[in-house]
Formats: sequence, C-alpha cells, structure tokens
Amino acid sequence: MGIQITPSILNADFGNLAAEVGRIPSADMVHVDVMDNHFVPNLTLGPTMVEALSRATDQPLDIHLMIDDPDRWAPGYAEAGAASVTFHAEAAGEPVSLARRLREIGARAGIALKPGTDATPYLDLLPEFDQVLIMTVEPGFGGQSFIPETMPKLRRVADAVRNAGLDVWLQVDGGITADTIGIAAEAGANTFVAGSAVFGGEVPAERIASLRDAASAHTHAHR
Ligand code: DX5
Ligand code: ZN
Repeated sequence: MGIQITPSILNADFGNLAAEVGRIPSADMVHVDVMDNHFVPNLTLGPTMVEALSRATDQPLDIHLMIDDPDRWAPGYAEAGAASVTFHAEAAGEPVSLARRLREIGARAGIALKPGTDATPYLDLLPEFDQVLIMTVEPGFGGQSFIPETMPKLRRVADAVRNAGLDVWLQVDGGITADTIGIAAEAGANTFVAGSAVFGGEVPAERIASLRDAASAHTHAHR
C-alpha cells in the first residue's frame, strides 16, 4: 500500500470542525484525538462528536483513543461510524478481544504504543490488528517535538509485519513535519498523522501535498 497522510484535527478550529475537514479533501483519513483527562492530562471530544462528524463528512475517521478503560468505551466509537479505532496498549485489559469486537462492528482495529512502551509483548498479536500506532511524542498535546528514539521500535514492528507477511499499517503520530516525516518513512511507517504541520498552514491541502512528497522520497521501493 502507498503512503497515507491522516491530518489530526486537534489543532483545527473546534468551533467549525465540519468546515475544517472540508479543507483537507486530499487526506486519506481524518485523525480524531479522543482524550479523557485521565489517560492523558487533556480533554477533547467523545462519541457524540464522532457521530456528528461522520454524518458531516464522507472522509473516513481514524479515531485515536487516549482514554482509560478502552475495553468499555472503544466499541462505541466503532458504532458511531469510525473507519478505524485505535486504543492504547497501556490502557487495555484484553487487547485481543477488544480488537476482535471492533472488527466485528466493522472498524479497523488499531493498537497504540507510547514512546516508552516496549513492542515485544505485542509482536505475536499483530494478526489481530489492522494498524499499529507508534507514538512519536508523549500523547496529550499537539505541537510537540518528534522523539527519534522511537525509531528502533518502529523498525522492529515493521520487520515483524514484513516477516509475517501481514498487511498491518504502521502509523506514526506526533511531531511529524516535512523535516521529520522522512525519518519515519525510512524506518517503515506508511501512515502519517500530522496536526500542526497541516492545520498550522494557511492552505492545509498544500501542506498535505508537501508531506506526501517528503515521505515518498524516503520510502523504500520494496515496501
Ligand atoms: C497527540 C495526538 C496527535 C497530535 C499530533 O497526543 O495524538 O495526534 O494531534 O499533533 P502534532 O502533529 O502537532 O504533533
Ligand atoms: Zn493522535
């Protein structure tokens, strides 16, 4: 599969979200950051907003749950119309049964790892997931700097996916800009979340095009 750019609306105008999503027609998915003030010290939106947004746009919604107890709450986001629902490994009680439940409802299932979380326990579970999100900043806020120390983990997961012949998307999230996206592409990412790099510009669609070019320049031909 090719490169996917999934802009995060975290830094968009929350008073005009439907219009903001209309400014990024070339996005492959729209990344929606759900935060609960418990798993991370920030609070954003919930399933009611996700449902409203899914009615307001044809764009697939890529939900990133930064919440406690996703076992209880994540299925509601799949039911609200999300194309994919990614929960944090650190918060999940039964990640495999939760992933199966999300897939049953019809969403792609994703698992996210914070920068300090080891990927080893999850490598055997890869067939249960459609995407793995390697956080490249501490979750909670947009506009932070990319943490390059997360790249060896991304490479390990990318190798495991390739060796197993799986079609699991590898997503990076946090501090992705035209300067850092190549580092992540080089390490094996194929799905790139970018918040401030897209919505910080006057013309978000142009920012998406530059990010796509920068990622393509660093993607290995065999991937
Ligand atoms: C951070 C969120 C990100 C955030 C990225 O916790 O998960 O999706 O919006 O923002 P930037 O691209 O500005 O780092
Ligand atoms: Zn995110």
